[in-house]
Amino acid sequence: ENGHSTGEVLLSIEDGIAWVTLNRPHKRNAINPGIVREMVDVIDRLEMDDDAKVVVITGAGEAFSAGQDLKEYFREIDQGHPMVKERLYRANSAWQWRRLMYYPKPTIAMVNGWCFGGGYGPLFACDLAFAADEANFGLSEINWGILPGGGASKVAAELLSFRRAMYHAMMGENIDGRTAAEWGLVNEALPRAALKERVRAVARVLLEKNPV
Ligand code: COA
Repeated sequence: ENGHSTGEVLLSIEDGIAWVTLNRPHKRNAINPGIVREMVDVIDRLEMDDDAKVVVITGAGEAFSAGQDLKEYFREIDQGHPMVKERLYRANSAWQWRRLMYYPKPTIAMVNGWCFGGGYGPLFACDLAFAADEANFGLSEINWGILPGGGASKVAAELLSFRRAMYHAMMGENIDGRTAAEWGLVNEALPRAALKERVRAVARVLLEKNPV
């Protein structure tokens, strides 16, 4: 294991598939500094691990990710040294927007449940995305009278039609997995009970085709 693992990210490699699980289920896998640090490490480590041929990112419990941790990523960090904040933001965009986005191995987001705001980063950075019908996607910032963060806004703008992106960002309504598939936010939605098997089947096809 690595030097600063706190168990906030779990990794298991089975038959060529690396299952990476955001593991703060009690906080709905909100992305805190611990998850950022561990994801930087895990993504780096898997690149060199020949046993990991396809990478799947998912969440423990009821959520994929409730977005950035409002307390640990924003409020607490805002009170500290500005460079600490700068470095944290840089590390968060590094694993999502620079590493995962251009990863040499195929990547799949498996959206098992809640996916909000900052959760859209890893969703978009993966090559493919599969969601549970029961998952819920939302840009909730507007409900506090602010616009969604730059990363999440960019994902909406890239993946959705202009009208849908604007509606999604401006209305603060959640959409379920089926609607997310219809809108193109994910490739496909299916009942939660069937999600993992479908993702495993897709990963197996990718393993055979070896698109690394
Ligand atoms: N940051 C920090 N903590 C969060 C969080 C976030 N983004 N999302 C959830 N949590 C915490 C809650 O504070 C709560 O902690 P507590 O048990 O110590 O009080 C715990 O996770 C469970 O959340 P709760 O709201 O009780 O769970 P739920 O299953 O009823 O609802 C959500 C799940 C995802 C719908 C709800 O937590 C939510 O709306 N979260 C905010 C999502 C958001 O707007 N993210 C944008 C951030 S960029």
